[in-house]
Amino acid sequence: MEEPSNPDSKFDLIILGASGFTGKYVLREALKFLNTTTPSSPIQTLALAGRNPNKLLQTLAWASHPNPPPPIPILTADTSSPPSLSRLAARTRLVLNCVGPFRLHGAPVVAACVESGCDYLDICGEPEFMERMEAEYHENVVERGGLIISACGFDSVPAELGVMFNSRQWVAAGVPNRIEAYLSLESDKRVVGNFGTFESAVLGVANADKLQELRRSRPRRARPVIPGPSPPKGPTIEHEKKIGVWAVKLPSADSIVVRRTLSTLQENPHGLKGVNESPEQIKKRETFWSSVKPAHFGVKIASKSLFGILRLITVGIFIGLLGKFAFGRRLLLQFPSVFSLGWFRKNGPTEDEVRSASFKMWFVGTGFSDSTHVAQGNKKPNMEIITRVTGPEIGYLTTPIILIQCALIVLSQRDNLPKGGVYTPGIVFGPTDLQKRLQENGISFDVISKSTLSN
Ligand SMILES: NC(=O)c1ccc[n+]([C@@H]2O[C@H](COP(=O)([O-])OP(=O)(O)OC[C@H]3O[C@@H](n4cnc5c(N)ncnc54)[C@H](OP(=O)(O)O)[C@@H]3O)[C@@H](O)[C@H]2O)c1
Repeated sequence: MEEPSNPDSKFDLIILGASGFTGKYVLREALKFLNTTTPSSPIQTLALAGRNPNKLLQTLAWASHPNPPPPIPILTADTSSPPSLSRLAARTRLVLNCVGPFRLHGAPVVAACVESGCDYLDICGEPEFMERMEAEYHENVVERGGLIISACGFDSVPAELGVMFNSRQWVAAGVPNRIEAYLSLESDKRVVGNFGTFESAVLGVANADKLQELRRSRPRRARPVIPGPSPPKGPTIEHEKKIGVWAVKLPSADSIVVRRTLSTLQENPHGLKGVNESPEQIKKRETFWSSVKPAHFGVKIASKSLFGILRLITVGIFIGLLGKFAFGRRLLLQFPSVFSLGWFRKNGPTEDEVRSASFKMWFVGTGFSDSTHVAQGNKKPNMEIITRVTGPEIGYLTTPIILIQCALIVLSQRDNLPKGGVYTPGIVFGPTDLQKRLQENGISFDVISKSTLSN
């Protein structure tokens, strides 16, 4: 691939951190959509960036295999060098950031993108980083332009679109009250997770107080209006018989991201205006958001066996206790395989393990067949809708599929998206064709059942 013919013109896309475990799969996914494969692709020009050009060249060879690597420019950039990031951001329309942990490396990249006005997507699953970027840059980019959207990976797009998909099944006068997601990771080999995700979870424990402090220092966001009572807390370990799993609450980024999306929707009931929308597009967006009914949302990690859940709780206790102290964090990150009981290891899964893995995320929505029942003081939900999102391995297959489809939308439908702002993926991509695109690329959305609950 050539550099843009005019030295002042910009790359469509730069992937930063393409040499990482996840970045290399993101690159492999991006290559499927290059102009060389699809001439009309919105990715006409692509560059890779990172601190080690040789490693990036090797990654390009790996990602293009068995084809020869296309001539993609390699740019040097280090997150500890703001000038290198400014040069990068000035040369592209869109940055895909795969350098984590984001709380350590992300802020200078966002700052450079804000300064240049280019768009930015990442695969972060760290709530404190996301909310800090929103606090620091949202006002600035709303006027100046430039979209900053984190969590465009498995964290948190299946949850965001999954909640909307379930919520949109509550047609006519039906309203959901609560949507509970049950996430099950499956494989006929051993399930091995992304080490970066483990590292983020460990550092997240250390940063939990910072997030609370940040929230206290900011005006409260609008709360979505949800018909019916707040759901009861429920047991710590749940046996969800209808889907045949044991489950325990997962302190994931998903519920925080979904809540932020619902707050933005509460503040903007018709969604976010596109920078240059056609009247048909305005109508389409407004119709979409009028069909999304907010609900309380939580995520549980699920397993077919009670033993699986006890294992998960043990790992959670290790992370929760040791993650609070510097020495404990060092231990966790030094011996991830020991403290995660084999779920995470530093060198990630093999390609075989990646191929054999998949996820199922059920969304069990409970609510009312008629919202007037709630107004009459009926407190017990009388209806249940179960939907499901399924897809391949979460860190290396699903995350790159989602990130690249989000990138293609930003590059091809920019007029329909807000001029600028720091947003969650759901509020920006909800009314676009992202769900359809994911379905075409191996991530399914299905309605499993609709039933009446006896009171
Ligand atoms: N949202 C999700 O569901 C999801 C899924 C997967 C991963 N993730 C997140 O993605 C992040 C990356 O994960 P990973 O497993 O791919 O990590 P990784 O293998 O450690 O890769 C990190 C990448 O960042 C680069 N990098 C590190 N320090 C840098 C610096 N100072 N300047 C420029 N580049 C630098 C590395 O470059 P070198 O090659 O030069 O070391 C490498 O390319 C993590 O935060 C993880 O939590 C999220």
